[in-house]
Amino acid sequence: MQGLNQQIQQFYDASSGLWEQIWGEHMHHGYYGVDGTLKKERREAQIDLIEELLTWADVQQATEILDVGCGIGGSSLYLAARFKASVTGITLSPVQAQRASDRAKFAGLSQSTQFLVADAQNMPFADHSFDFVWSLESGEHMPDKMKFMQELCRVLKPGGKLLMVTWCHRPIDQQPLTEDEQAHLEEIYRVYCLPHVISLPEYEQIARSLPLQNIRTADWSKAVAPFWEVVIDSAFNPMAIVGLLFSGWKTIEAALSLNLMKTGYERGLIRFGLLSATKE
Ligand SMILES: C[S@@+](CC[C@H](N)C(=O)[O-])C[C@H]1O[C@@H](n2cnc3c(N)ncnc32)[C@H](O)[C@@H]1O
Repeated sequence: MQGLNQQIQQFYDASSGLWEQIWGEHMHHGYYGVDGTLKKERREAQIDLIEELLTWADVQQATEILDVGCGIGGSSLYLAARFKASVTGITLSPVQAQRASDRAKFAGLSQSTQFLVADAQNMPFADHSFDFVWSLESGEHMPDKMKFMQELCRVLKPGGKLLMVTWCHRPIDQQPLTEDEQAHLEEIYRVYCLPHVISLPEYEQIARSLPLQNIRTADWSKAVAPFWEVVIDSAFNPMAIVGLLFSGWKTIEAALSLNLMKTGYERGLIRFGLLSATKE
């Protein structure tokens, strides 16, 4: 059996070109207002999500930023320009790292950005290297959530800010997951190369065991869930279908399974979790 990291690498190596062609450089949800009712163009919604997150976490400035699970550098380049900061992005996919570097060159941001293939659970950075650690929709891929959070915290400078945003399942303190919910999650895990997800209170508990303070969490499921309808609508235009045929079975399967996420939100099973904190 192939290792998880290798599966994730191959998944993003194979699918990132098509994603960029159809949906652009941001590989994350969009923001449609607090209750998800605002109508807007998909890319605008994705950029709004970045801005809303920065506002929510009260990130006013940053000089050394780490983007953990950077995709093709959508957020990295945005943050580099927005804060006139140095940004390092890491991904498991060499194809993504190369594409992010090429995009940085094209945007005139090569001097202030670098993209590496590295594992978020064992990062090649010294302790206290960054004053802002940003991780948008990569935590769901991490098999060891504790190790992941420890690493995010380790590389932060004292006083530095962490903003981690990830797919979760619903809280389980009132009622454990049902068999049917578990089966639904297993399908999502299989299709999107995820080991498992946890609930936001569980992330908060992990954060409380680390040298972090001002820990805050929020569930933005309502604000982002409409994204899946938009993606489903645009996934089956002729250009996307031709692209899918050239991107291999895993990518086709991921596209055919978009409904799993839509219904996951509808039944309250999938949650979009935010956690921010400051390093002690
Ligand atoms: C859904 S994409 C999100 C990309 C980006 N944050 C964005 O919003 O455009 C998930 C990213 O997480 C990365 N990733 C998954 N597991 C990782 C790991 N163990 N170490 C580093 N990156 C990882 C993938 O390579 C991919 O770039």
